[in-house]
Amino acid sequence: MCGIVGYIGNKKAGPILINGLLRLEYRGYDSAGISTIEKDKISIMKDKGRVKNLYNLPGINDLEGTIGIAHTRWATHGKPSKENAHPHMDNSKTFSVVHNGIIENYHELREFLSSNGYKFYSDTDTEIIPNLVHYYYSKDENNDEFKFLRAFKNACSRLLGSFAIEILCKDYPNNMIVVRKDSPLVIGKSDGENYLSSDIPAILSFTRNFYLLNDYEYAVLSRDNVKFYDKDLNEINKKTETIEWNASSAEKDGYQDFMLKEIYEQPTAIRETIGSKLNEKLECSFEELDFTKDYLKGLNKIYFIACGTAMHAGLAGKNMMEKLCKIPTEVDIASEFRYRNPLVDDKTLCIFISQSGETADTIAALKLAKSNGAKTIVITNVIGSSITREADYSIYTHAGPEIAVASTKAYTSQVVLISLLCVYFADVLGMDNPNVTNLKEEILMLPKKLEETLKDTKKIKDFAKKVYQEQDIFFLGRGIDETTAREASLKLKEISYIHSESYAAGELKHGAIALIENGVTVVGIMTDPNLVDKMVSNLQEVITRGAKTLIITNQDIDEKRFDVVINVPKTSPFISPILAIVPLQLFAYYISKEKGLDVDKPRNLAKSVTVE
Ligand code: G6P
Repeated sequence: MCGIVGYIGNKKAGPILINGLLRLEYRGYDSAGISTIEKDKISIMKDKGRVKNLYNLPGINDLEGTIGIAHTRWATHGKPSKENAHPHMDNSKTFSVVHNGIIENYHELREFLSSNGYKFYSDTDTEIIPNLVHYYYSKDENNDEFKFLRAFKNACSRLLGSFAIEILCKDYPNNMIVVRKDSPLVIGKSDGENYLSSDIPAILSFTRNFYLLNDYEYAVLSRDNVKFYDKDLNEINKKTETIEWNASSAEKDGYQDFMLKEIYEQPTAIRETIGSKLNEKLECSFEELDFTKDYLKGLNKIYFIACGTAMHAGLAGKNMMEKLCKIPTEVDIASEFRYRNPLVDDKTLCIFISQSGETADTIAALKLAKSNGAKTIVITNVIGSSITREADYSIYTHAGPEIAVASTKAYTSQVVLISLLCVYFADVLGMDNPNVTNLKEEILMLPKKLEETLKDTKKIKDFAKKVYQEQDIFFLGRGIDETTAREASLKLKEISYIHSESYAAGELKHGAIALIENGVTVVGIMTDPNLVDKMVSNLQEVITRGAKTLIITNQDIDEKRFDVVINVPKTSPFISPILAIVPLQLFAYYISKEKGLDVDKPRNLAKSVTVE
């Protein structure tokens, strides 16, 4: 949701801020703006639309300020417009603010400020912040070096909701202050300059040393220093963390789009995921975990909880966990789990999956599970992300930064990590199951098989060209293939805007088959040898009604019955989603390209959803 950037140093802030926003645009892209301090005055330049529009604003190249804050917006309060774009100033033009998150009590605060004479010019919740800061600032008669910080802290302690806020004050031209609560924010430390960003990749080309803020911690940035304070403004010490990702991993590297690059990065990404967790001797270890056989044996249930694509990774894990470890396993959508009083206690293990580690619903669900006594594991890609600070155990996918909004390599690496976790649990439990050994062997072969899957993509590209103008596309699968159908359907919706449904193939005849008519496209996924015959029968039902069929399979089937058949390498059915999804990621990608859409930044979506 919204991306924020900040810079203080000796260079002109304007170009650095816009550059940072361009890299954060995947977090939101309906309006953008920057604020700098120019000769002791606050300057704000902003506009509706994409970040690149900022380059056309008169005077933007004349900005001299070496301190500034910036924002790219994904609208929550107030439609996308210049007035609602950030940064926002207070009435006296002393402060400017950018904010990511939602202020839940903004109506009440707006009324309070209005009754004290403040005027508002936007529909945003954010505009109350600079004015509330001004309210406290104007009442403080002590003109010491902490006056700005005090006023900001007094204002923030009245805010409810989630926020990452950067603020400038014209009276303190050598300081910028930030705070966060349930919204991401990192501080990049460099020589004589410091950076702020919602995400590490946006500032990775400037530094690999980062400070991470906890909720309600304040950071005061100057050119040579960053000072930290707790919620009561006691000074605290923090050490930097070094991030191993290199800057080029956040660039397109010659690919047309991040999504295509990330699809092709999957073999490397999952090699990293497997890393030292599983060796050639088929020994599996998770140093992060300390579960005993008794603990695992005593579990009444395992939950996978997540949103969107990450939830599909959980679905892929359910069958594996139940079959290999004999522990009942459920998958839940985080926003549903939270509100249905789930049966969770100290004998429940809750595994949360989140690429970004910042998804508000997933974090809230984790807090709930913890408060019910469950142990919590998070599977995430982002070291130091908010959720890792809440979970009992954090396990990293190591997929490298994922920039495209539609998730690809994050998904496959999540499924790989979950499969490793399943075999690890099976080992701890002492399960004597040939499937476990077979699965381990297959996991080790996955990177090569993924490379093979990506070698020839012509057939899928040609099929995408044929069907890109269609209104509806259906995805069918049974068992584990239904998970792939769901994820493929989501990918297609997200980036092509084609209406799409995924169905458990056996369920189609109980309703949705009414939608199948002459010429409609149906994609069938068949990787489970036990279910192939049943799948073929279900597909025959749609062919009879005139459907065109695209088949993704690793089974020997009579290919003549279908329009196009894409073969993927054989593997253990438990992990077939990792290979079967790849042609379907490309299917969505090529359709989106054919329609001339912005693949990496689909409409209305944001990569990380930090509102509930
Ligand atoms: C957003 C993204 C999806 C993602 C979901 C969960 O909706 O657009 O691609 O799957 O959030 O994100 P997370 O970071 O928690 O995996």
